[in-house]
Amino acid sequence: MNSTLIELLADGEFHSGEELGAVLGVSRAAVWKQLQKLEAMNIPFHSVKGKGYRLPEAVELLDQNRLLAEGFPLQAFNSFDQHLSVGSTNDELMLKAETNDLSRHICFAEMQTGGRGRRGRAWVSPFARNLYFSVLWPFSQGISAIQGLSLAVGLAIQRALIKLDVPSTGLKWPNDLLVKTSTGHAKLGGILIELTGDVTDACQVVIGVGINLDIRPQDLARIDQNAIGVKQLQSGLSRNKVAATLVKELVGMLTEFEVYGFSALKEEWNGHDAFNGLPVKLILPSSEIPGSGCGVNDKGEYVMETAGGKQVFNAGEVSLRLGE
Ligand code: BTN
Repeated sequence: MNSTLIELLADGEFHSGEELGAVLGVSRAAVWKQLQKLEAMNIPFHSVKGKGYRLPEAVELLDQNRLLAEGFPLQAFNSFDQHLSVGSTNDELMLKAETNDLSRHICFAEMQTGGRGRRGRAWVSPFARNLYFSVLWPFSQGISAIQGLSLAVGLAIQRALIKLDVPSTGLKWPNDLLVKTSTGHAKLGGILIELTGDVTDACQVVIGVGINLDIRPQDLARIDQNAIGVKQLQSGLSRNKVAATLVKELVGMLTEFEVYGFSALKEEWNGHDAFNGLPVKLILPSSEIPGSGCGVNDKGEYVMETAGGKQVFNAGEVSLRLGE
């Protein structure tokens, strides 16, 4: 119901309650109720006496037909959920995983009110400007079979960005998408992987992907690092096209990863390592290790040249930064 109202408002123009009611085939009171639902979901809209209602600007909503037209691999999934607003798409699929029969699911949201990043950070998720989705994917051989998975997912996104002709993108271990700018690096997207199930037997993985499309100054004020959007690098790209291309590459990658594991992807990943040969520091919970970036090994661990020689680091509660 709401999605129809939101589709009418997506053009960013004013629509009177009467007009909305007529198009939706409901009373003005029913329109008002739907608008209240949007308000309850924190979806921003303007209400001006004598003019009607409008979204603050025109938006391109995700649309299953448009996604399919852009090659979205719907057949790869047992279910496709699309929400206007949720807490977190990862949370939605973690819930589904509790009763899941090891089938595959995808969940998109136009906005997240509790979007989560790695290491307990919030993921700023304004309405219909970026992409927020999660995929629930079963792995039959337990946790050992998913070593390097988050790097493989990053590489799938990198492949999609190349297909979309988005320039200057690279990967930051373990799972950030970065862009080299004139003033340093800016974050284009991130991946949050969560697991349920048996570590030795079948497990289910929720792969959450957040890709910035259109980052505004008000978003930057809420993000604790420099960020940039795909549209700032390649204007005119449609959200539906970016979403379809990302998911298509991701499904292809998961299928490839299940058969060959990460080692087969190592060289390709290292070819996109944003910090290769650069001075870096590895931030551990209570210390920092300086060195220079040497890419990843077969297991997806990061290799650094340090004062004490080459050292290898696992993901977990660590992060990599550019050093001086
Ligand atoms: C990071 O770089 O810290 C990871 C960010 C992951 C964000 C995505 S948005 C879709 C999914 N739902 C979430 O709550 N988080 C992930």
